[in-house]
Amino acid sequence: GAVRTPLIAGNWKMNLDHLQAVAFVQKLHWTLKDAKHEDGSVEVAVFPPFTDLRTVQTLLDADKIPFSLGGQDLSPKDSGAFTGDISGAFLAKLDAQYVIIGHSERREYHHETDEVVASKVQAALRHGLVPVICVGETAEDLEKYGASAVPVGQLKTALADVPADADIVVAYEPVWAIGSGQAATPDQAQDVCAKLRAVVADTLGADAAERTRVLYGGSVKAANIASFMREPDVDGALVGGASLVVDEFAAIIRYQK
Ligand code: G3P
Repeated sequence: GAVRTPLIAGNWKMNLDHLQAVAFVQKLHWTLKDAKHEDGSVEVAVFPPFTDLRTVQTLLDADKIPFSLGGQDLSPKDSGAFTGDISGAFLAKLDAQYVIIGHSERREYHHETDEVVASKVQAALRHGLVPVICVGETAEDLEKYGASAVPVGQLKTALADVPADADIVVAYEPVWAIGSGQAATPDQAQDVCAKLRAVVADTLGADAAERTRVLYGGSVKAANIASFMREPDVDGALVGGASLVVDEFAAIIRYQK
């Protein structure tokens, strides 16, 4: 959609320590010199591990690198006796603009339910962070219910108490496509992304649906990004493995429709 700035987001997951992060971000920035993100026609965001955020933020600021920054998770609480957790207040203080919520790896390995995800969305909004709400069906869900039922249900719960003027991003990540090398087809991605946009319309209204970016994630590579970006309801990509390889991620950012 013309009104929505495409967003190419790199979810580093548990990769790159803070020293590797500096080298990576510098190299990516140099590789992208004169690329379209410099003129704002594509937004680039990186989601490093928590321990890298301070260093990466300092580098982006010092070298005026136009990448957005986000955390990979946050606590539903603001502060207190929650050992090991990171509050949205801390992320906001480090100038993070975004936070990934409900990634399938959090749902699987940390047993995050749709209700936990919803409370994290509320926490993000309380601290002025844009939640990148991840939804998606497993291979088993796909077989039982088809592609859209589970992600649609997940998004409905996540948006239950979200105000109509909230700034959010939705990421459709079919679990079977993550890290598998087997991406969804552009048709499949378009179909579910359109249904997710309809959920935004139903819960937050038509204006929100028009401005909210819906991303596709799952084995996105330089070779397939353009096919996704040609779909009207796919506004960008949430990239895992390929976001860790400078030339590959740069090529994804430079996609030509
Ligand atoms: O959050 C991005 C992700 O889960 C997709 O991973 O490695 O398939 O691009 P990958």
